[in-house]
Amino acid sequence: MREVSILLHSARQLLTMAPAAGGRPKVGSSMADLGILEDGALAADGERILAVGHTDEIRSAYQLRPGGVEMDATGCVVMPAFVDPHTHVLFHGTREWEFEERLRGKTYMEIAAEGGGIHASVRMFREASDETLLAESLARMDRMAAFGTGTVEIKTGYALDPEQELRALRLIGELSRRHPLHVVATYLGAHEIPSVHRGDPDTYVDLLVKRMIPEAADLGIARFCDVFCEQGVFSIEQSRRILETGKRVGLRPKLHADEIEPMGGAELAAEVQAISADHLGKVSEQGMRAMAEAGVVAVLLPATLFSLRAQAYAPARRMIELGVAVALATDCNPGSSMTESQPWVMALACLEMGMTPAEAVTATTYNAAAALGLAADRGALSPGYRADIQILDAPSYARLPYHVGFPDQRDLFLSGRHVIPALRAPELRIRVSGASLGGDELCTGR
Ligand code: NIG
Ligand code: FE
Repeated sequence: MREVSILLHSARQLLTMAPAAGGRPKVGSSMADLGILEDGALAADGERILAVGHTDEIRSAYQLRPGGVEMDATGCVVMPAFVDPHTHVLFHGTREWEFEERLRGKTYMEIAAEGGGIHASVRMFREASDETLLAESLARMDRMAAFGTGTVEIKTGYALDPEQELRALRLIGELSRRHPLHVVATYLGAHEIPSVHRGDPDTYVDLLVKRMIPEAADLGIARFCDVFCEQGVFSIEQSRRILETGKRVGLRPKLHADEIEPMGGAELAAEVQAISADHLGKVSEQGMRAMAEAGVVAVLLPATLFSLRAQAYAPARRMIELGVAVALATDCNPGSSMTESQPWVMALACLEMGMTPAEAVTATTYNAAAALGLAADRGALSPGYRADIQILDAPSYARLPYHVGFPDQRDLFLSGRHVIPALRAPELRIRVSGASLGGDELCTGR
């Protein structure tokens, strides 16, 4: 019998995700096919999955090597760890005061125009020490892991000058070294027009194109180049220049597209063959058709539109109908989406965008990996895939969007390492133990 380092068995549901050949993103009705095995089992050795099947099959072919982890998943769901393909986790300080201003009626873009918003975070970023930025970001990554995330994309973009944007990239590299979560870096020097260039944004675009993006690529940390293509930020023409420059130096395009105003961002994504177009709250029919045709993944960020109290969400159902691959992400950032939780995003996707729980699972695992070009490596439980696995203390994957706000993740394996419960944040591990603590008198109100 072959010896392995992980043996999980007796799962009520094991979600293989039925991955497509070559890690192609899933579209249409295949988004709802989770490849579910009942009484499922999985064998992994080192970083990789060797086999999945029914408990009897796997147990008769594999045995645990000394020091390995065997786990009885009776009554549980075994599924791929989440991939969170759009975040701004590297930031310092928070913006609660803007939250209150928005509740009093100011819009996100008005706050930005007055020097708040991203500008406020840029000031805080530039003043913060490396250690402060790392400590705050690592704590957010702990919370992401506690909610089942295994891979996180992190963007630069709170620095907005040549030196500091490179510093942001180096810090993202450092986060990757210091935390068990897998990290993918995206260069977003084009997140906002820095205050010094307000009157003449093209000067900043020139700086990005001639110096900042090539220097960023030289550092060898970023995989993607992103831009905030939005009215009052970067125009379609400016975004095209930025993304084409990224492409020339080996950074695949991604973009913040059609978030607040319809701009033709989705059409641009198709034209430049972006790997994904993200947000898309105001995407046009033509834009969706162009994305389907070009195979651009739509990364939807409903927690952002929820936080901005937008009137409408991205048309996820129409996208799925048209054959656009849909993924979901937190957009974790201090301005428009202060959350680390993919399950919360799934709840919004189901309740506000009409996605089914099964589609939401595909959108946070396999298709989310596809939005980073990684769906042949993670986001599915299949032979050869990375052993990035979460175990839910729940009878069905539908628990994820159904149980809003609470992490039901019992265990998390990343590249075959058992990182949760080891790493789970203490505040999420509170167990009320009557035996050791004793209890109060029943509160009767008398
Ligand atoms: O994706 N849209 C631009 N960037 C972020 C917001 C960043 C911020 O407000 O700090 C987003 O929503
Ligand atoms: Fe964003």
